[in-house]
Amino acid sequence: MRFQHFGLETLVSLIFLATHVYAKPDSNDINAGCPTPPKFESIKVVELGLPPVSPSNAVGACSSSINPHRSGCIDQTSQTNSGNFLPDGNHIVATLNFVGAPAAPDPASIYSGLHLVIIRTNGTTFKNGDSWKCITCGVPASQMNGTTALDVYPQAFRDGHRVLVGNNIVDGHAALETDACTPNSTWIYPIRWNVAANGTGAGGSIRELRIHPDNVHLGFNAFTAVGESSFFSRLSFNPKPTIGDPISARYDLDNVTMFFNSGNSPEYVISGKNLSINPYAINVGEFRGFSKTGKEAYYIGPTFESDNIDMTAIDLTTGETRRITQYPGYIDPIDASFDDQWQVILDTRFTNRTDFMDGMRHVPPLNDIIAVGAAASIRNNGARRYFQPWLLNRNGDCGTYYGQRINAEGDGSNGAVNDPNWNGMADPRWSWDDTKISYWQTLVVSPACGGSNPLPCPMSTAQGGRTSRIMLATLTNRKPIFSPQAAEASDVVPWGTPYTPGMTLPSSSPLPAGNYTLHGKSSGYASVQLIENAAKTGLSTVVANYYNYSDDGRNVLNGYENVTAGALTTTTEKLDWYSNLTSHGDTYSTKVTGPGGFHFTIDLFTNIFDANGTLTTTVDGVAYKQPYNFA
Ligand SMILES: *[C@@H]1O[C@H](CO)[C@@H](O)[C@H](O)[C@H]1NC(C)=O
Ligand SMILES: *[C@@H]1O[C@H](CO)[C@@H](O)[C@H](O)[C@H]1NC(C)=O
Ligand SMILES: *[C@@H]1O[C@H](CO)[C@@H](O)[C@H](O)[C@H]1NC(C)=O
Ligand SMILES: *[C@@H]1O[C@H](CO)[C@@H](O)[C@H](O)[C@H]1NC(C)=O
Ligand SMILES: *[C@@H]1O[C@H](CO)[C@@H](O)[C@H](O)[C@H]1NC(C)=O
Ligand SMILES: *[C@@H]1O[C@H](CO)[C@@H](O)[C@H](O)[C@H]1NC(C)=O
Ligand SMILES: *[C@@H]1O[C@H](CO)[C@@H](O)[C@H](O)[C@H]1NC(C)=O
Ligand SMILES: *[C@@H]1O[C@H](CO)[C@@H](O)[C@H](O)[C@H]1NC(C)=O
Ligand SMILES: *[C@@H]1O[C@H](CO)[C@@H](O)[C@H](O)[C@H]1NC(C)=O
Ligand SMILES: *[C@@H]1O[C@H](CO)[C@@H](O)[C@H](O)[C@H]1NC(C)=O
Ligand SMILES: *[C@@H]1O[C@H](CO)[C@@H](O)[C@H](O)[C@H]1NC(C)=O
Ligand SMILES: *[C@@H]1O[C@H](CO)[C@@H](O)[C@H](O)[C@H]1NC(C)=O
Repeated sequence: MRFQHFGLETLVSLIFLATHVYAKPDSNDINAGCPTPPKFESIKVVELGLPPVSPSNAVGACSSSINPHRSGCIDQTSQTNSGNFLPDGNHIVATLNFVGAPAAPDPASIYSGLHLVIIRTNGTTFKNGDSWKCITCGVPASQMNGTTALDVYPQAFRDGHRVLVGNNIVDGHAALETDACTPNSTWIYPIRWNVAANGTGAGGSIRELRIHPDNVHLGFNAFTAVGESSFFSRLSFNPKPTIGDPISARYDLDNVTMFFNSGNSPEYVISGKNLSINPYAINVGEFRGFSKTGKEAYYIGPTFESDNIDMTAIDLTTGETRRITQYPGYIDPIDASFDDQWQVILDTRFTNRTDFMDGMRHVPPLNDIIAVGAAASIRNNGARRYFQPWLLNRNGDCGTYYGQRINAEGDGSNGAVNDPNWNGMADPRWSWDDTKISYWQTLVVSPACGGSNPLPCPMSTAQGGRTSRIMLATLTNRKPIFSPQAAEASDVVPWGTPYTPGMTLPSSSPLPAGNYTLHGKSSGYASVQLIENAAKTGLSTVVANYYNYSDDGRNVLNGYENVTAGALTTTTEKLDWYSNLTSHGDTYSTKVTGPGGFHFTIDLFTNIFDANGTLTTTVDGVAYKQPYNFA
């Protein structure tokens, strides 16, 4: 068969015909095959107490009139990074940025810089009257050799005396909440990933560390020669290393396995002139953590529907994958309950942030071959994220079940629990008895508001004008459960690649340019052109023309989408986009670019959206428009 590039007029008449033939199928229930959705439950949310905000960062600004207990102050924008609960359920771990401390030898001089703290969650205080206790303030320098910033993703181990924070493990050598845990009893150990065949050097750069619930293994991501890669490993305490930096007590990562194997079948498969898509293929883009029985890892990877970023779970042993989310929007942080029957997720769903691009459902992920990074980057506006916490059962989104917003209470006003200007940050966490969830948020600040941005900057109602806050949600009708220790996972991940230091990492082979047919699983087809960039270093354009395309027999797609992506810098992309798609079925939806198309640039790290032209998705008469530029 020859592939014809239909003129727009031909196409339009074909689409016109299609719109008049298809009616919404009522014989096919959108909820067919979905379990009965859970009832909404009662959730109470409170804000947890933090150290007072210092009037400035100047030495001594945290005076005894600001904090009479002389136990430190934090800065206004403190990235509070809350984490999980201590096993007693009465504290969470967090990192805080202490400022304004007096100079040494004042005993309060230790409250300076980024530190690990624990915060009471039951409304009571420590003996000094504080609701928090700093664990790492005052730890002698000789007990923290070779460590890096105590900044992100604090995660307490089940032993109650160790906490992973940043790329370090803090060990209080006593239950952290007890008086036996002091700065002198506490050590901070760096974590080292050996990447040199001869064992020398500083080790590889690692990020986004998550403890496996067996408390022995660790998952992590790394930017490597082949892009972002993720790994499984065993944490092994090395009290007296003989090689590699730092040459002092540290945790080594042993038995490392890359979450990738070139033998696994790819997401996009070409057979002759046929292109087929298997979004269930193993494709760990970014590793996000583990289920609480420890059997599964979570990842963001391929999209199941175009431009719609979802979470996948993969069985560590069998490699079987499971789609958790479906609703349009971007999901990222996730934590499973200890019975593994629930998840708390942070997602942009219902904020309408990304719907202009992903609001039309059941579009196969074709432009995603080149555009998924840019599509994913629209989720944020600079420092502002549009995340809110949602409770989702294990099965995840299905039919018309999209979970329950955890912080729904309130009137949406400035400072309310559901104030949309307070947005979720990583990671939300379940208590060990499954009755509570902690999460933290930051308030939108300039330039994500104010100036030319249509959103005026709100005045923080938090103490001292603080722009971050830690929240505690109690699921009031739940009975506490006892969560047994997860069984120790195997070091072997059969669908991964064992990593040996110094090895060349395997990577997936690129898709060849060409003209292909993607057959709908139920009916119709799409003609697909994959076009190389001018330098012939990779694909830059995907053109899809849909002809009564349907994968599910309910939703039928017609029209075209033509997307070109090019790199402006190593992290900034420019997209040229032309769409006129129509979908009939569960909804009547259109996805249409304005005259001249839609052109935008976005940086994959800073997430600043800048566009000319328009892209609008309309779902059953409701139009979703792109964000304002820089907003
Ligand atoms: C998109 O296609 C529809 C037919 O489905 C047509 O009515 C409309 O004019 C087209 N829009 C553009 C911008 O081409
Ligand atoms: C609150 O937590 C502290 C520390 O674990 C504990 O001693 C106290 O009994 C708890 N109080 C209440 C009311 O739960
Ligand atoms: C910690 O140890 C140092 C050195 O041994 C000692 O001077 C200091 O008093 C100890 N601090 C506490 C709080 O025990
Ligand atoms: C170890 O290998 C690195 C290259 O990875 C090399 O630069 C270094 O000299 C080697 N050191 C020793 C002690 O062999
Ligand atoms: C701290 O680490 C450095 C660099 O690896 C090493 O030279 C030094 O001996 C270590 N100090 C201690 C006290 O372990
Ligand atoms: C894990 O590493 C240790 C130490 O290198 C080794 O003894 C063990 O056999 C490894 N486990 C597996 C499953 O390869
Ligand atoms: C392409 O797909 C069609 C329809 O599914 C099938 O009949 C044909 O055998 C496939 N061709 C190849 C080369 O896979
Ligand atoms: C999102 O769009 C829907 C449909 O127009 C609207 O009801 C809702 O208020 C919007 N939500 C936000 C946060 O703007
Ligand atoms: C793909 O199809 C287009 C439009 O029909 C045509 O211009 C182009 O030459 C084809 N490319 C290849 C590689 O066959
Ligand atoms: C789509 O399906 C309808 C109904 O079967 C048919 O009338 C129409 O010609 C089809 N259009 C295309 C482009 O195949
Ligand atoms: C994509 O659409 C643009 C604008 O209509 C057009 O100039 C370009 O030729 C299209 N690309 C392909 C490969 O059809
Ligand atoms: C938008 O158009 C202006 C004026 O032509 C141009 O300078 C700018 O680079 C364009 N931006 C994008 C994202 O296409």
